[in-house]
Amino acid sequence: MRTKVAIIGGGPSGLILSQLLDLQGIDNVVLERKTQEYVLKRIRAGVLEQGLVDLLHTAEVAEPMLKNGAMHDGFQICYNGRSARIDLKGLVGAGVMVYGQTEITRDLYAARKAMGGVILEEAEVTNIEGIHTKQPKVHFSRGGENHQLACDFVVGCDGFHGASRQAIPAGDLKTFEKVYPFGWLGILSETPPISHELIYASHDRGFALCSMRHSNLSRYYLQVPLSDRVEDWSDDKFWHELRLRLPTEVAKNLVTGPSIEKSIAPLRSFVCENMRYGNLFLAGDAAHIVPPTGAKGLNLAASDIHYLSNALIQYYHDGDESGLDGYLETALKRVWKAERFSWWMTSLLHKLPSGAGENGDFTHRMQTAELDYIFNSPAALKSLAENYVGLPY
Ligand code: APR
Ligand code: PHB
Repeated sequence: MRTKVAIIGGGPSGLILSQLLDLQGIDNVVLERKTQEYVLKRIRAGVLEQGLVDLLHTAEVAEPMLKNGAMHDGFQICYNGRSARIDLKGLVGAGVMVYGQTEITRDLYAARKAMGGVILEEAEVTNIEGIHTKQPKVHFSRGGENHQLACDFVVGCDGFHGASRQAIPAGDLKTFEKVYPFGWLGILSETPPISHELIYASHDRGFALCSMRHSNLSRYYLQVPLSDRVEDWSDDKFWHELRLRLPTEVAKNLVTGPSIEKSIAPLRSFVCENMRYGNLFLAGDAAHIVPPTGAKGLNLAASDIHYLSNALIQYYHDGDESGLDGYLETALKRVWKAERFSWWMTSLLHKLPSGAGENGDFTHRMQTAELDYIFNSPAALKSLAENYVGLPY
């Protein structure tokens, strides 16, 4: 087999890239180790920056999002029994689109099928050879047989646990990581959301987040110890704890119901700075992970794909390699800014263990002082808002 661009991973990153290249007549193949059905079972965040909305427009898959998504002009932060609204639209003239990542992935698979896109399901990449040559080869297993895909470029869109990063020699890898000492217990319920906007709650008992997918599908999260297991949390225990972490006047609006999905996810910050290595490019979770507090995971994948798709189009249409040569530096600049914001928002709102050399709950006092400062400083509010809606590409 041969193609121009071999894309490893049929998640949002790989699918958006495949769609954008195909629309420009650039031959590509997506290798996805799971089935589409399996991929669509993943429940992920649903807050879209304008840059991602624009990218989905360019990929000609925006229609379902515009029909079923909802623009949010602000969100709430609760702490020390009080609630305060971050007026995104008023502060920075932009909001965010709330539309589930699962739905985006579904829309992308439908668009790829309609265009006759080549997505090989249950195709597990096992090795990538020749990434410093003009003819890299991607080895994958499928149907119990070994196959090879020759290409000009390999794009690793295969997530944190993928194969593409493994193709970079350990001695050349430049990675940075922080693992947080807690996880997020998430629940999905077919109930009306507690509020029409998202609520981020900082509480002595731990962080909580109230989100949604649509008017009758709510998404809630609780910060839990890493030692907790999903089976430790009955629905009733979850709803009881969520109420305790919200101000009374907010909690009274909670509509509970049976969970249709419940899972615990660890939180980490991770960056692999080798976003280009020869003719291998990394994008999305293959290159970086953010704690979900700032909802930057998919949005950061979007800016990677924006830069890389434009660079590949420039190369194939005009023979201009400048975009490919500039991808690493351009993408990394935005990656580290989103990593900073996600780390900052996580550190601000979660119950943290005391730091080395601290007596008393110094860390909690710092968090309270920062929140008091933010809510009394137009400049600080604007800074939070411009990062939340998304920094420019
Ligand atoms: N061969 C083929 N496919 C693979 C391999 C492999 N060796 N390893 C992983 N994959 C596939 C996975 O099955 C998955 O479908 O790559 C895909 C990676 O998709 P994601 O993990 O969703 O990563 P990405 O597309 O970059 O999307 C980033 O999704 O995970 C969330 O929080 C993340 O919102 C962010 C967004
Ligand atoms: C979600 O809806 O899953 C969600 C929303 C906002 C976040 C994280 C997750 O910051």
